[in-house]
Amino acid sequence: MTGGAGFIGSHVVATLTASGCEVTVLDCGHPAAHRGPLPAEVAGVPVTRADLRDPGAVAAALTDVDVVVHQAAMVGLGVDLDDLPDYVGCNDLGTAVLLARMARAGVHRLVLASSMVVYGEGGYSCAEHGRVRPGPRVVADLAAGVFEPPCPICRTPLVPELVGEDAPLDPRSVYAATKVAQEHLTAAWARQTGGAVAALRYHNVYGPGMPRDTPYSGVAAIFRSLVEAGRPPRVFEDGGQRRDFVHVRDVAAANLAAVAATETLGGWRAYNVASGRPATVGELAAELSRAAGGPAPVTTGEFRLGDVRHVVARPDRAATELGFRARVGLAEGVAEFASAPLRG
Ligand code: UD1
Repeated sequence: MTGGAGFIGSHVVATLTASGCEVTVLDCGHPAAHRGPLPAEVAGVPVTRADLRDPGAVAAALTDVDVVVHQAAMVGLGVDLDDLPDYVGCNDLGTAVLLARMARAGVHRLVLASSMVVYGEGGYSCAEHGRVRPGPRVVADLAAGVFEPPCPICRTPLVPELVGEDAPLDPRSVYAATKVAQEHLTAAWARQTGGAVAALRYHNVYGPGMPRDTPYSGVAAIFRSLVEAGRPPRVFEDGGQRRDFVHVRDVAAANLAAVAATETLGGWRAYNVASGRPATVGELAAELSRAAGGPAPVTTGEFRLGDVRHVVARPDRAATELGFRARVGLAEGVAEFASAPLRG
């Protein structure tokens, strides 16, 4: 496991060990994910501090390994473009070194933590023009409170649809570009080595142990940190943007299923890892405020360039091919999340 001491990684380690897997954990303790010291162990498994860009450290960890579960990455929007080399270094150079060393060590099975950010906007249809792909939203529209992306042909509002794995990739941030590169690098590796890769496109993951509010955090962590401080969640746009919030224990279960699937999977395959029950950001905020007994959310009308409006997943492929179905509903998951510990 790479990134095994992180938020998602530590849940995956716990699930894998509970199912009887013998796990080795590498983690570089990147400050974007770890404000405190790196833990000595996760779920009873010792954590080895190693940067994936260090070929020697990666090679040493690959002895007697059947499958690599690659969770290590820098996520989120970041602070500014000074972050760009670190995103590419950690996510893409790190993956390249890992793949090269796996090939040399004869390790042919990989589970990759990818993300729904590879899609850019989700699926949309226009009443007149059918399925269309909206371009990036323009500042003038957002500033005027027009948040729905228009049809690229007739400019009328679109209807959001579920996004399947065969949707075209359209990364719209540095992070998204590094995730697309990871997907392409692992696909090339699978072709060249005859290896098997399950690329898990995580939707919006939340749950216990999420990092507190940082420039690298997703919306659930930001809202949760505000609620903890007795402040209202600040909902951007009009709160109607749709996402699929998936619980971290479900994500860990998807990883376990993917590890098993790589035994028989031929080549490279992407899977949405999602709850299959979309919610708006406004609904998430309201649910969290209610569960925490805190102040009601404030809808601010603010917007961030690069945010997409709706990304909601079609979860069927993971159900059919991996046997994975999310079990934790939003109300139940958020009720727990409202008081669950966050990480430093
Ligand atoms: C997020 C993560 C990404 C992760 C992916 C899948 C980014 C910036 N973040 O993408 O790392 O891989 O989910 O798990 O890529 N919002 C508010 N108030 C706030 C902050 C955000 O209303 O204080 C809104 C945003 O405007 C946006 C939505 O919440 O509409 C989701 O934001 P966020 O979680 O940051 O980004 P995602 O694009 O969903």
